[in-house]
Amino acid sequence: MAAGSERVDGTRQWLRGLEVLAGPLPEFDPERAPADPVRLFLSWLVGAVADGVRDPHAMTLSTVDSAGDPDARVLILKGVGPEGWQFAGHAVSPKGGQLVRHPRAALTFYWPEQGRQVRIRGPVTPGSAEDNAADFLDRSPTARAESLLGRRSQYLMDPAERDQALEKALALIEREPSLVDSAWTLYTLAPTEVEFWQAAKSRVHTRLRYERVATGWERFRLWS
Ligand SMILES: Cc1cc2nc3c(=O)[nH]c(=O)nc-3n(C[C@H](O)[C@H](O)[C@H](O)COP(=O)(O)O)c2cc1C
Repeated sequence: MAAGSERVDGTRQWLRGLEVLAGPLPEFDPERAPADPVRLFLSWLVGAVADGVRDPHAMTLSTVDSAGDPDARVLILKGVGPEGWQFAGHAVSPKGGQLVRHPRAALTFYWPEQGRQVRIRGPVTPGSAEDNAADFLDRSPTARAESLLGRRSQYLMDPAERDQALEKALALIEREPSLVDSAWTLYTLAPTEVEFWQAAKSRVHTRLRYERVATGWERFRLWS
C-alpha cells in the first residue's frame, strides 16, 4: 500500500472517531410548527442565542458563478421579516457579480449545540440606496474603511500596501463620518423554500420543508 493511501486511511479512522451531534438535543414537533417559516426560524434563532451558540447569526451564502459553478462563503444575517432574509456585502466582489448574473441563492445555518440546520432558497434583490447606506453607516469604522478600499477578494501581493490604504481610508472616514460606499449593498433573499432539520440521538432526524404557494406556505415532512 502506498504511503499516501495509509495516511488517507488513518485520517478516515480519525474522522470517524470524532463526535457529531453530541447534544443534548432539543425536541422538535413538526405537527406543532407555525404556518409561517419566519416565525419558526426566529424561535430557533432565539433558542440558539439562549443556549449560547457561538455566532448564531452567521450563515453560509451559496451562489452560482457565470460558468454555473457553485460558490459559498459565510456572512452575517442582517435582518429577517416577511420580505425575507437579509445580508450585506460589496457589490464589486465575486458574490456581488454572481448575484447580478444569477440573482438566486441559498442560505444555510448550522447550530451544532442543538443539532439544527436551516436551509433557505430563493431570488435575491439588492436594497434601495437608503437601506444600503443605513447598513453601511451601522458598520464599524474599520469595516467601512475596508469596504472603501474596493479591492475585495483580489490578490494581496503586499500587506504593507493594504495597511497604508486602510490607514488613509480610516482618516477619510474620520474627516467625513457620513461618507457612504455606494457599492455596499443590503440584499434580501425572498424564500421560496425553507427547510428545518432537527437531529435526534436515535439518528432518525426530523425534516420539515415549507414551500411557497400562491396562498402562503405549504409544509411537508421529508424522509431523512
Ligand atoms: C463569521 C463571518 C462573518 C462574515 N460576514 C460577512 C458579511 O456580513 N459580509 C461580507 O461581505 N463578508 C462577510 N464575511 C467574509 C466573507 O465570508 C467573504 O470572505 C467575503 O465576503 C468575500 O466573499 P466573495 O469573495 O465570495 O465575494 C464574513 C466571514 C465570516 C467568517
